[in-house]
Amino acid sequence: MRLFVSRDAGALAVGADEVALALEQAAAKRGVAVEIIRTGSRGMYWLEPLVEVATPQGRIAFGPVTETDVPSLLDALASNTPHLLRLGATDEIPWLKRQTRLTFARCGVIDPRSLEDYRAHGGYKGLERALSLGSEAILTEVTASGLRGRGGAGFPTGIKWKTVAQAKADRKFIVCNADEGDSGTFADRMIMEGDPFLVIEGMTTAGITVGATKGYIYIRSEYPHAVEAMKAAIQAAKRGGYLGDKIGGSTYSFDLEVRVGAGAYVCGEETSLLESLEGRRGIVRAKPPLPAHHGLFGKPTVINNVLSFAAIPFILAEGAKAYADFGMGRSRGTMPIQLAGNIRHGGLYETAFGVTLGELVDDIGGGTFTGRPVRAVQVGGPLGAYFPRALFDTPFDYEAFAARDGLIGHGGIVVFDDSVDMRRQARFAMEFCAVESCGKCTPCRIGSTRGVETIEKIINGERVSENLALVEDLCNTMKFGSLCALGGFTPYPVLSALKHFREDFVPAPTTLQAAE
Ligand code: NAI
Ligand code: SF4
Repeated sequence: MRLFVSRDAGALAVGADEVALALEQAAAKRGVAVEIIRTGSRGMYWLEPLVEVATPQGRIAFGPVTETDVPSLLDALASNTPHLLRLGATDEIPWLKRQTRLTFARCGVIDPRSLEDYRAHGGYKGLERALSLGSEAILTEVTASGLRGRGGAGFPTGIKWKTVAQAKADRKFIVCNADEGDSGTFADRMIMEGDPFLVIEGMTTAGITVGATKGYIYIRSEYPHAVEAMKAAIQAAKRGGYLGDKIGGSTYSFDLEVRVGAGAYVCGEETSLLESLEGRRGIVRAKPPLPAHHGLFGKPTVINNVLSFAAIPFILAEGAKAYADFGMGRSRGTMPIQLAGNIRHGGLYETAFGVTLGELVDDIGGGTFTGRPVRAVQVGGPLGAYFPRALFDTPFDYEAFAARDGLIGHGGIVVFDDSVDMRRQARFAMEFCAVESCGKCTPCRIGSTRGVETIEKIINGERVSENLALVEDLCNTMKFGSLCALGGFTPYPVLSALKHFREDFVPAPTTLQAAE
């Protein structure tokens, strides 16, 4: 009997290791031969630990399984009788079936430690085609796919790669930004843990396109399982001839190393990340020059988010059109959306751009975990705006969110119910900025601390309208005077809270005052 249990950090946190061990021990006791394959997660975190069983009709899922469920689960499997935790065919679970998994197609399906499994599921098809195309044609494909940087800024990947390809230099680098720091996001972690060869394939493709022979994956220290998975995959890719000299039997060379960050949010900002990679404190560099011209060790560098690299193999394997056919407007392809916070069905939902915020939160996410009404959602991490229900018709699209003073960022959605105090959320945004600021520029370094103090005064009811005007003024200074997105985007959550949830900041007049 072949069983599949996730080794994703989210599944381990709720006991996947214990369930796998219990399955192994209970099966041995019964004299049943089982092979337990540790996969990545399917992204349905409310069902973890998920146990899947291979059958001639495909995999059947059970979840969430605890150690105590194991004996009855094995009984049901042996006697082919129903079990309370049976979810049916995994691919038919509506939450999974409704998705368009282009990037996450293999995540939760394959053994992330096995190069053979990766190849058996279509892995390295994209690189093989890329090797036959050469640089110019790859750039045409990536540009035509419409892929935009999935780290948050949404800059066209094809243009970035072309800039580096055209730069003249003795060395060039590929850097993968895996310093996923946004609250409520976990897509980078999930793909690194569940399908690490995909990231390697995407980076290798970037290397042969722009003429770089060395790449680095900068992973945040809070992701030890992803670090382990990427290191193991790099070793396996080297053994398999997919990293090092003559990759895939070609004349190209490309090598990769993992570097672990030290826990600073600002190191997710690309120039700060490069400083850290070079062995210095993570402080933001002024741009220009862009990393594409003057990046790691002063050399032209492609720096992309994990998800951007992970989208490349599909584009090369299936062609730009197959990717660009999904989406709306200038947002092409799919976005791995991460549903988190106070939500019933939290997890990773990959779908074409265009789905509305309301569909994501109410329909797909199933509303709040607490069962209370949804009041606010923060989209795009701690620097993203808070949207009220009135804006739930906003389609998930870079431009549509920008038009409503929001951002989709890295695709994280954090849900709050009606018990949320938006004054505290606004204070938190300023405090987060104060704690994480690299200190290079004044609006962010000093402004965020003054922001915390002023919002506290509002919370304490001190000269509320005067202090609200001060906060708004301060936000404008931070927005236009900060060097990077940390100081520059902190106003988004603060101003959106003030705009859409004003009633939390300005106490309603008492009956007596209203009558005056
Ligand atoms: P940006 O707009 O300055 O740059 C975007 C990218 O395009 C950069 O890599 C830049 O070097 C490149 N670029 C710009 N012009 C170019 C040109 N002409 N040729 C070649 N490359 C060019 O934005 P930034 O500051 O890099 O990112 C801000 C975003 O980061 C925010 O929107 C936020 O959503 C996101 N973010 C993501 C986090 C995460 O955990 N993934 C955490 C914090 C912020
Ligand atoms: Fe550093 Fe903040 Fe200025 Fe960014 S905005 S450079 S984090 S001080």
